[in-house]
This record gives sequence, structure tokens and C-alpha cells, in this order.
Amino acid sequence: MTQQSLFIVIEGLDGSGKSTASLALKKLLEKRLSREVMRTYEPKDDAVAGTFIRDILEKRITQFDPFMLALGYATNRLDHNSRFIRPWLAQEGLQVVICDRYYLSSLVYNSSEDFSFDQVMLLNRKALRPDVIFFLNVSAEVCRERMNQRDEPLELFETKLDLYRQKYIEAMEYLRTNRAENIVAIDGNQSVEKVVAAMLREIEVLLNEH
Ligand code: TMP
Repeated sequence: MTQQSLFIVIEGLDGSGKSTASLALKKLLEKRLSREVMRTYEPKDDAVAGTFIRDILEKRITQFDPFMLALGYATNRLDHNSRFIRPWLAQEGLQVVICDRYYLSSLVYNSSEDFSFDQVMLLNRKALRPDVIFFLNVSAEVCRERMNQRDEPLELFETKLDLYRQKYIEAMEYLRTNRAENIVAIDGNQSVEKVVAAMLREIEVLLNEH
């Protein structure tokens, strides 16, 4: 049986080029498959807890329990699954969703010494499993430079890029080892054309899989 739907996640540090890559990948896949591809992102603003999460990220709410934030992201994700991602993928024919950030981000940003990867994944156990997670591999310095060029106030997690880069490496290892997740690192220092061409090669393999 050939693949009936494709759930693609793009991950990476802030400033790693996720939104540019997901937009370019959407266009490429729409051409390749001659159908509309859904592009989305997390946190999903118009899903449960979306406003609460934005208020925290943009520092309008400053007093919060980190565990509650982890719950917020997990809840936001399940609602995103139920009302947006799953219905799209359930439509007839080969359907594709590209999502900018997903539970790998929760492992990276919401785990801590007293809140383990296992506990984060327990909250996310009902979340749809991606067919592939692309990690845009860009150095923390390059991400920092790109974010500085944006001239916008830094959000909650947009500092400590070296720490989060290290956590990405650990969290990817965790997902591969414990859940056999399909995670592909892509060199994000290349042109966007080369980035999406590398993604497309992996996607072609999935499309032809039996
Ligand atoms: P963005 O909309 O600018 O990508 O910001 C989203 C922020 O939310 C980013 O700094 C990472 C963080 N985040 C989490 O902490 N946990 C999650 O599960 C997700 C999806 C994002």
C-alpha cells in the first residue's frame, strides 16, 4: 500500500529559517502533487491555550508555572490535531500537512531537571506522530545574527540559543532511541532551494514506501 497521507514537521532554533523553508516546501510539494498542501505552525494561535501561550512568549504574563506552560503546549497541540491536522489528512487522496514546530520543541523548551523528556512525552502521548521531522541544522551564532536583523523584541525562549541547540541534539537522540522517530537533519546554512530539495528527496522515499 502506498502512503495515504504525509505529516511533515520542520524544527530548529528560532532564526534557523523554518518559516522560509516550510513556505518553499509547500510550494514545491503543491507543484509535485498537484494539490493544496496545508502549512501550519505551533503554538497554534487559534487553538486552545493559544492566547495564553502568546501572552507568556511576549511577556505580558510573567508569573507562571513552567509545568503549566508545558500543559498549555500539549493541550494546544491536541486541539490543533483534532480540529486542523487530522481532518485535513483524513480527506480523500494523498494529503500533506507541513507543521512548523511540534513535540520536539516541547522536549527542548519545556523539559527541565525536574520535568523529564519522558514526562513531556506522556503529556503528548495522544499527539499524531509525524512521518518525518526535519531538523534545520544551523549554528547558534547564525540564528542569533538573523534574529538581531529582525529588529523585534526577543520572545521568552529567544535567548540561550547554545543551550537549546544542545537540547535539540539530546531530544532528537531521545526520540530516535525511545520511539524510533524518523528525524532528518538538514544543513540549514545552504540556500533555501537546496534545503527544500534535500527535504523533497526524503519525502520521495516516503511516498514510494510500501
Ligand atoms: P515562534 O512562534 O516564534 O516560533 O515561537 C514559538 C516559541 O514557542 C519558540 O520560542 C519555542 C516555543 N515552544 C515551546 O516552548 N514548546 C512547544 O511545544 C512549541 C511548539 C514551541
